[in-house]
Amino acid sequence: MIGRLNHVAVAVPDLDKATAVYRDILGAKVSAPLAQPAHGVTVVFVELPNTKIELLLPMGDQSPIKAFLERNPAGGIHHLCYEVNDILAARDALKAKGLRVLGNGEPKIGAHDMPVLFLHPKDLNGCLVELQQI
Ligand code: CO
Repeated sequence: MIGRLNHVAVAVPDLDKATAVYRDILGAKVSAPLAQPAHGVTVVFVELPNTKIELLLPMGDQSPIKAFLERNPAGGIHHLCYEVNDILAARDALKAKGLRVLGNGEPKIGAHDMPVLFLHPKDLNGCLVELQQI
C-alpha cells in the first residue's frame, strides 16, 4: 500500500534561520522559499539523497501550521508523507480499515502538484500522515 517516504514536514518559527541551519551547518541542498497561499505556508525544500525535508512557515491567520507552532514554539515535525500509486484506492482501502481521512475526504492538489490527503494522527500513533499520489 504505502510506498516511499516522500518528505518529512517540519514547522519552523523562522524560515531563514532554519534554512541556514540545513544549508550552512548540515550541508544540505536547499531550495528558495516558495509561497503556497492555497496551503497557508511558505516552504523551503531540503533535498536529501533519499527523501526531502519540507520546512514550513505559516502564512496568514488561517494557516494550519499556526496553531501547531503556538503549541510547539521551537518548531517540530508536523507530518510524514508517504507515496501511493492510486490515492482514491488507498483512501477507500484505509477508510474500510477504520482510518479517518481529514477534511471532506477528497484529495487536494499538494505542494508538488499531485493529489494529497491527510490521515488523522490519532489513528497513526500521533503522527499526521499525508498520502501523495505519484
Ligand atoms: Co507535506
